[in-house]
Amino acid sequence: AQNERESLFIVSEFANNFFRDYLLNSSEGQSVGASYFIERGFSKPVMERFHLGFAPDGRDLFYKTATQAGFSQEVLEKAGLVSKKDDNTYLDRFRGRVVFPIHNVAGKTIAFGARILKTDAKAPKYINSPETEIYHKSKIVYGIYQAKNAIRQKENCFLVEGYTDVISLHQAGIENVVASSGTSLTVEQIRLIGRFTDNITVLYDGDSAGIKASLRGIDLILEEGLNVKAVVFPEGDDPDSYIRKVGGEAFTRYVEQNQKDFIRFKTEISLEDVGQDAVKKAELVESLVLSITKVPNPVKRQIFYQEVAKLLNIDEAILINEGNKKTVTNL
Ligand code: UTP
Ligand code: MN
Ligand code: MN
Ligand code: MN
Ligand code: MN
Repeated sequence: AQNERESLFIVSEFANNFFRDYLLNSSEGQSVGASYFIERGFSKPVMERFHLGFAPDGRDLFYKTATQAGFSQEVLEKAGLVSKKDDNTYLDRFRGRVVFPIHNVAGKTIAFGARILKTDAKAPKYINSPETEIYHKSKIVYGIYQAKNAIRQKENCFLVEGYTDVISLHQAGIENVVASSGTSLTVEQIRLIGRFTDNITVLYDGDSAGIKASLRGIDLILEEGLNVKAVVFPEGDDPDSYIRKVGGEAFTRYVEQNQKDFIRFKTEISLEDVGQDAVKKAELVESLVLSITKVPNPVKRQIFYQEVAKLLNIDEAILINEGNKKTVTNL
């Protein structure tokens, strides 16, 4: 199994070099791939830093190149780079797409995400590598290798949804950023970030899916004992589109002015809906208390109870009492 892992690392590195080379040194790569990235505002250095590439729009150019270089059909399939068809021919997984390699913490290529050029087509926007022996998508966050030093230094990690959010922020000089890559955040991903900092700021997309995912992510982060804040972007924007619209300085200002601890985040999101409705207010309080019970540190819990009491004008002792009841039933 160790040998198999090693061969998967090697073939992934080979594929990464193939896609990069094809982006930089083929006419298709230049006219289609590079111009796509340039249109999105990605600079050459940032494209290099993330090893961005392009997968040719044919059936099997990668497959042919890799087998000629000595890679077996078996390892190419196991890496999820090609698939075998009914007629026993092999088809490249990534075709006619820009490629985002996914690196592990040590900087080794372990998988790929690949974006279609025009989203009007019926095909999925992104195609990703399948799970392999070296790639478990629930255990990695995109960009961790490029971000880890900045995360340590800033003592904070921005968590975004997508590949392009990570790259656009880097482009603007904000390097302490990783992506959960569209999947719902997992405990393993939080622990990975937790190796570098105790503080996460969730910057998900400004749509209802992003807000819902933020709420879920927040509780999970609290449970892991990390500190969490969250920002809502204007409807329809994600960190990538927003930073391109307003620039790095205004982006940073927006994040600083709009980041909320989880209590304010939850409260403000449900406030419109709650209004003067006592039942809805009670439900909000209940959900806040439930989040607080997940915080492992008792001092922090105490501070959060005080905050809810003040914000919603409710007796603190009642909140604590409610929380203790929930903790008992949680067990
Ligand atoms: P988004 O739909 O928000 O895409 O999905 P995006 O990152 O903003 O991409 P652009 O700006 O349109 O290029 C967020 C993330 O979810 C995963 C990808 O990791 C994507 O970056 N995703 C999304 C998929 O894996 N497959 C999909 O079809 C869509
Ligand atoms: Mn690499
Ligand atoms: Mn989204
Ligand atoms: Mn997005
Ligand atoms: Mn986007």
